[in-house]
Amino acid sequence: MSQAQVRETINEASGTVFRPGLEGVPVTHSSICDIDGLQGNLSYRGYSIQELAAKSTFLETTYLLIWGELPNPQQLRDFEAEVQMHRRVSFRVRDMMKCFPATGHPMDALQSSAASLGLFYSRRAIDNPQYIYDAVVRLIAKIPTMVAAFQLIRKGQDPIQPRDDLAYSANFLYMLTEREQDPLAARIFDRCLILHAEHSLNASTFSARVTASTLTDPYAVVASAVGTLAGPLHGGANEDVLAMLEEIGSPNNVSAYLDDAITNKKKVMGFGHREYRVKDPRASILQDLAEELFARFGKDEMYDVARELEAESASRLGPKGIFPNVDFYSGLVYRKLGIPRDLFTPVFAISRVAGWLAHWREQLGANRIFRPSQIYTGSKSRQWIAPSERTTTEGS
Ligand code: SDX
Repeated sequence: MSQAQVRETINEASGTVFRPGLEGVPVTHSSICDIDGLQGNLSYRGYSIQELAAKSTFLETTYLLIWGELPNPQQLRDFEAEVQMHRRVSFRVRDMMKCFPATGHPMDALQSSAASLGLFYSRRAIDNPQYIYDAVVRLIAKIPTMVAAFQLIRKGQDPIQPRDDLAYSANFLYMLTEREQDPLAARIFDRCLILHAEHSLNASTFSARVTASTLTDPYAVVASAVGTLAGPLHGGANEDVLAMLEEIGSPNNVSAYLDDAITNKKKVMGFGHREYRVKDPRASILQDLAEELFARFGKDEMYDVARELEAESASRLGPKGIFPNVDFYSGLVYRKLGIPRDLFTPVFAISRVAGWLAHWREQLGANRIFRPSQIYTGSKSRQWIAPSERTTTEGS
């Protein structure tokens, strides 16, 4: 019986309930992010995602997520200045990235280079608030530089150094595309980073908390989370949505595509969510950002396919609580910003580092190593048999 088929099992010994994928099972107390999946509400430290995406900046939201309060002007200036000062990445890391195969996926390059940061900074000083602050600054500052660096390295070019006269998002787009972006594009990208920064105990954040609970260093925590985010059921979906829209090709083909997906139980990428039973509030904001970009820089021809797919799915997937999630429109925004498709998930990681670090710090505040139990379904009390006496069925 596959995990998906097993809905719920009671553990006779302890009387506890097994739920596949820990669906609905709380594994920690947290004050970072609140989601109301029935109403479609999302807030970071009590501030609605709509207000933060409209009025805040990614670095201000990062500070809020990690330290729990909006920074005062001096705190924000100091944090921005520290992040700006630490954007550069050691030549050793850049040289290491030059040894990566150019055909490798940028998420694997990011996971390797994020983990390598642990080699440069002392480990296990995690009871020291200054160490925590410094690690947060380094990771928030260096992850975008590493994503942009691999993009240029795999094209056979030398990475571009960060520009201190550009703010966080404008600087990333500059390092990635080799040209200074329109201020509207940089602002819209910064709002995308706010939208993707945190989402309670999604798979990669849970991975970060489990890794953090062993008291390892924050670079290993982030590398663990990056590897988890890369999966197509999680952060990797934003890449697949564009491929799906291009496969559909035209709004006229949407109905037939949906017929096939539903008949053959195929997942429609960018749809569905473990928490939301309505449209992901982030998808609505991303749709508005896409339309703002299209108004200025021209429309993406796949947008009409996406809107038709959302409209057609409302009556066919909606009754099952399956609606667009954060990944459905984000790829159209990123493509319009000139971001290559296989960098969509690394961009998700640039943003989600804020949430992972907030959960890392929270886990350290009240830590107990994660070690869940299981319901054993394997064989018992078997005797070892010499190879010559084994039939082909043993161990096959
Ligand atoms: C992210 O957790 C987070 O917060 C994640 C995230 C974040 O900010 O960190 O929001 C980011 O990961 C968004 C999700 C991106 N992934 C995708 O878009 C991939 C497509 N979506 C599905 O794989 C799925 O919806 C999940 C993984 C997102 C959620 O899966 P669940 O909650 O485990 O649901 P399930 O797979 O058990 O499906 C329940 C039912 C099944 O039908 P039945 O067998 O009961 O008849 O719903 C169906 C599924 O077939 N279903 C879908 C579907 N998603 C669920 N059917 C068609 N298309 C889909 N997308």
